[in-house]
Amino acid sequence: MIEFVLNNKLIKTDANAGMTLIDFIRSEQQLKGTKIGCREGDCGACTVLVGSLNNKDILYKSITSCISPLGNAHGKHIVTVEGINLEDRLNTVQIALKNNNATQCGFCTPGFVMSLIGLGLQNILVSKEDAIKAISGNICRCTGYKSIEKSAYQIYDKLTKMPFSNRLNWLVDNSYLPNYFLAIADKLKKIKNHTPADIEGVLVAGGTDLYVQNADALAEADVNLVYQSQQLAGITFYKDRCIVGAETTVSDLFYNDAMLTYFPDIRNFLKLVSSEPIRNMATIAGNFVNASPIGDLTIFFLALNASITLQNKSHSLRTILLKDFYKGYKKLDLKPDEHIVNIAFNVPKVKYKFNFEKVSKRTHLDIASVNSAIQMSVSNNKVDFVYFSLGGVAPVPFYLTETCQFLTGKTLSVEILKEATQILQQEIKPISDVRGDETYKRLLARQLFYAHFLKLFPKTFQILELVN
Ligand SMILES: Cc1cc2nc3c(=O)[nH]c(=O)nc-3n(C[C@H](O)[C@H](O)[C@H](O)COP(=O)(O)OP(=O)(O)OC[C@H]3O[C@@H](n4cnc5c(N)ncnc54)[C@H](O)[C@@H]3O)c2cc1C
Ligand code: FES
Ligand code: FES
Repeated sequence: MIEFVLNNKLIKTDANAGMTLIDFIRSEQQLKGTKIGCREGDCGACTVLVGSLNNKDILYKSITSCISPLGNAHGKHIVTVEGINLEDRLNTVQIALKNNNATQCGFCTPGFVMSLIGLGLQNILVSKEDAIKAISGNICRCTGYKSIEKSAYQIYDKLTKMPFSNRLNWLVDNSYLPNYFLAIADKLKKIKNHTPADIEGVLVAGGTDLYVQNADALAEADVNLVYQSQQLAGITFYKDRCIVGAETTVSDLFYNDAMLTYFPDIRNFLKLVSSEPIRNMATIAGNFVNASPIGDLTIFFLALNASITLQNKSHSLRTILLKDFYKGYKKLDLKPDEHIVNIAFNVPKVKYKFNFEKVSKRTHLDIASVNSAIQMSVSNNKVDFVYFSLGGVAPVPFYLTETCQFLTGKTLSVEILKEATQILQQEIKPISDVRGDETYKRLLARQLFYAHFLKLFPKTFQILELVN
């Protein structure tokens, strides 16, 4: 039995946990305000909010309901566009969009409204850019962007007046949300067993890869939903190791304060991964097992020399390096009865340097043509160690063993970097595809390698010396 609160209504359903949330909302509950555009997580027309109990508060985030399994809603508050209407007037977000003429066809509007309500409910507001980040997963096809952007900034300006405590009360008092939101936490507390029982079936985490590929089959299939498993969640630090639960999402990494301490640029890196609602669903293990040669998180963790721990049905554990997980195109060192439990890496010391780069056709909400990450320690200009990864240049997310070996112990200079790029070019095997031909990808691989050094050692290297 799946149990959750949909707007202000308690739902108890025996529907198959693998069906999509959007189909449940529209077909079973007849709530047609949430629209279907692409069914691939790309357009944001189906955006809803998911609220999860966190002590006595509820944390809300936006998701695309077209690629989210119904079962992941268990124990949550699901909010559709019908659930944010006030009784007798438009809410503050709706008024901002209306006053700026930011709705033209109106089809995409429910998604924009939900994302901007989500902006008010998110846990931190840092800068105006957050307003754009909130709608990074919403597409408007009829060129209404400037007026939508203007509305988003106006909403952001108003939200900056929100106090740090009693935020839900403030949002209700300031006409963002209807009153019933204040009673939702008590309703969620009454729902027992927030984790659906383990069942045999297709292992699904956030669903952002699986549902794009196979939503129809999954709607009928038995699914093993691991997304809410407490054992697979959380980011912990033990001595000099950081251990990250397999089902940690990109947003969990984004908002983790300790990660920000060790990787001061992490939020800029992660903003390049998909869009806000996808980051709220997409897990690290899902990224690793999808095994895309351009998986951003895989490239990121390869450069941390991360290891993964796998568990089988008899609860036996084994740990391997992430770089040894990939055996060929979509071939993994993963047995049918195994799943990933966690990912671990050495906490970077202050003097270590880390950088991530991604080139795609669009800056946001696009997968990479080539992406890359590097971690290194350099003392007196000499490389103590280096871990370097490149995506989109081989059948697997690629760790450059030979280039790293070459650089280790070397004194950094323009000549050494140029020599390293020759080894790099021998190691990689890019193919021509829709994201660029082989020559272009080879050029990108070189440029991203240089970009790491230009960013990490701005006083030592100049772009013209490297490329000439
Ligand atoms: C619109 C859109 C944009 C995207 N943009 C990007 C992008 O910019 N960069 C990028 O890298 N990716 C992107 N993706 C791909 C996707 O979001 C990521 O790969 C994501 O990390 C997958 O995680 P998930 O939890 O959703 O995986 P799922 O779809 O739930 O699962 C993927 C695979 O992992 C397996 N799996 C999940 N957890 C475990 C586990 N613990 N043990 C063993 N197997 C497991 C599943 O069985 C399945 O085979 C995008 C996807 C969409 C829809
Ligand atoms: S329908 Fe386009 S993101 Fe869901
Ligand atoms: S207002 Fe709907 S596509 Fe632009």
